[in-house]
Amino acid sequence: MDSIEIKGGQPLHGVIEIAGAKNACLALMPASLLTDQPLTLTNAPRLSDIATMTQLLQTLGVEVREMKEGQVLSMSAHDIEEHQADYNIVRKMRASILVLGPLIARLGRAAVSLPGGCAIGARPVNIHLDALSQLGADIELENGYIMASLRGTALRGAVIKLPIASVGATENLLLAASLAKGTTVIDNAAQEPEIVDLANCLRKMGARIIGDGTKRIEIEGVESLKGATHHVISDRIETGTYMLAVAMAGGDITLRHGCINLLASFVEKLEEAGVKVAETAQGIHVQRGLSDRLQAVNVSTEPYPGFPTDLQAQMMAAMSISKGQCQLEETIFENRFMHAPELMRMGANIEIRGRTALIEGVDSLRGAPLMATDLRASVSLVLAGLAAEGHTIVNRVYHLDRGYEMVEEKLAACGAEIRRARS
Ligand code: EPZ
Repeated sequence: MDSIEIKGGQPLHGVIEIAGAKNACLALMPASLLTDQPLTLTNAPRLSDIATMTQLLQTLGVEVREMKEGQVLSMSAHDIEEHQADYNIVRKMRASILVLGPLIARLGRAAVSLPGGCAIGARPVNIHLDALSQLGADIELENGYIMASLRGTALRGAVIKLPIASVGATENLLLAASLAKGTTVIDNAAQEPEIVDLANCLRKMGARIIGDGTKRIEIEGVESLKGATHHVISDRIETGTYMLAVAMAGGDITLRHGCINLLASFVEKLEEAGVKVAETAQGIHVQRGLSDRLQAVNVSTEPYPGFPTDLQAQMMAAMSISKGQCQLEETIFENRFMHAPELMRMGANIEIRGRTALIEGVDSLRGAPLMATDLRASVSLVLAGLAAEGHTIVNRVYHLDRGYEMVEEKLAACGAEIRRARS
């Protein structure tokens, strides 16, 4: 298992290219199942999660062509018959559940392994299943698999109120309802930008969708969808992560293709902490002078457009070296503080009380050997290593590779002393 070694204390200066959004691409790829014509995605990120989704689609009979070193994916589900998504792939990535809706809509049946929990929580899929059942799918659980079939001859539009504004459930519904007979209304829909990107792609394919990006989405089902070419939106979480890298290490970087308007709540907190952020023609310019210490700010994660839960771990690392006391509240997932004990081993002063972390900023962290536990926790440890005194080794960086393209190259190009040790 590879590890990443960092010698802290180097400020960052330079330009970082932001890749396409992992969480948009993972919802866009299953849309290829909805049509027998090719769906081409440009600006696709080169990540292990994308490779896993590619593998899953290929087991379902989708031809996937990777071009431009994986930045362009052309998928053709011309002749698909396989309706089973195996446990051995689904267990690696929960977003595999997003093939469920399209398989039912295209083939009339599906057998998708239950994804199971992960490090950050139980991650149930009950909302997905209840919603698809309201569209006319018969759903049974057998031997750890979701067995779905059509109650009638096709999915039928329905008014569906989500109990939680689930991102994945909203995406599964958008995918399935696009081919249902009649109109579907999703109440309490998730509003994340990745939902809007999926809706934009589906509209290019001929879907009739309005209201995406609001709490109420309306989908008028169509007989069939055609192929399309779609540019994946930039990754707002990768953008926010590198903004925090500068916040912690100091210096100034420009994030090319970053999308500041999708990070309003996050940027507000960053500026409150004393980081300078500006939108320029070249991208987002982020700056923190070495003499300007970060100020402690309170944060509570919320569904979009609130502060993203996917930036909570990275913010905790930054607040651990801020001036003052603050608290971070994680309202979305029940176990998303596993980076805290590792930060404490670097000298951070953090007390966990349920879903709230109380942080007393310290002057500096000390490098240490660390263990990554999940995707965003692992990158928060890399950020801490950039700012810490001495050497940090982050082990099990396969977690990191799920969601960050070439992280050590991008940071080293801006002056960080960081390298990957392959083993
Ligand atoms: C998506 O996960 C993202 N993943 C997550 O990013 C992100 O943290 C999350 O949305 C919230 O923004 C992808 O897009 C691939 P939810 P998802 O359904 O869809 C509960 C990362 O680091 N829930 O909005 O799984 C659930 O347990 C990942 O890139 C149910 O109870 O999130 C959670 O507490 C991590 N039943 C809350 O809802 C369900 O059927 C929000 O989950 C579904 C969800």
